[in-house]
Amino acid sequence: MAEPRGKGKHVVVTGASSGIGRALARAWGREGATVWMGARSAKALDEAAREVERAGGQGHALPLDVTDRASVARFAAEVGRAAPGVDVLVNNAGVGHWGPMAETDVETWDRVLATDLTGPFLVTKALLPLMRKRTGARHLVNVVSVAGKQAHAGGSTYSASKFGLKGWTEAVALELAEEGIRVLAVCPGYVNTDLVGGAAEAERMIQPDDLARLLVDWTFLPASVHVDEITVWPWEMYTE
Ligand SMILES: NC(=O)c1ccc[n+]([C@@H]2O[C@H](COP(=O)([O-])OP(=O)(O)OC[C@H]3O[C@@H](n4cnc5c(N)ncnc54)[C@H](OP(=O)(O)O)[C@@H]3O)[C@@H](O)[C@H]2O)c1
Repeated sequence: MAEPRGKGKHVVVTGASSGIGRALARAWGREGATVWMGARSAKALDEAAREVERAGGQGHALPLDVTDRASVARFAAEVGRAAPGVDVLVNNAGVGHWGPMAETDVETWDRVLATDLTGPFLVTKALLPLMRKRTGARHLVNVVSVAGKQAHAGGSTYSASKFGLKGWTEAVALELAEEGIRVLAVCPGYVNTDLVGGAAEAERMIQPDDLARLLVDWTFLPASVHVDEITVWPWEMYTE
């Protein structure tokens, strides 16, 4: 039998306690990878790590609040103590907010920007030294959103963070290409997670496991090609 593709790889997933991040950690587990998983909800994160183990990988649950510099530093130090480096980093942790700009308070604005925009900056900076320790293929994925490419009334705060993340990703992709690290901005439409909580529409949305499979496969593209952006639509909602 062939070796699992992720054997020997060390993968970091932020926001791995639920939704897309949890599905992604499982998908990497199926590939036999070691997955370093960060989020605030300890119990859910532990359960998610056990799912990784059941899938065939190694799951390590570590506390992480991407809005807290000290927490990010502790997370990076923990990974660095136990792992030989990081091959794949997925900045997935995020929060949403929907509501008119005029009714959005500054605390909400600060929380969304701190999580969805400053969070990936802090985490990437903290983990880059560990990515530099590895010599093989290295990949950085930033989970943006279609809201990082198209604005809608009621989505100003979320779009401010995700347009920012998209722009940041494009610049960083060019910087890190110099050292052989490939960077992806993935921009999904509605995904069936707690973030959108759309029970009635859930079946019509992108399913987290399908998105996760796509993101793992991106990592294994032939070395001669580079895909730097993927927009993923729920097919049944594509024309709406
Ligand atoms: N669902 C969609 O339709 C959709 C579409 C496009 C893009 N996205 C993006 O996909 C990403 C994942 O969202 P999801 O849909 O999977 O939602 P979700 O199920 O609510 O998951 C969000 C994850 O982010 C973590 N998180 C939130 N704040 C955090 C913080 N301060 N520090 C560390 N972790 C934090 C949460 O864990 P804790 O609460 O345990 O910390 C959770 O694991 C987000 O960046 C979101 O913007 C979602």
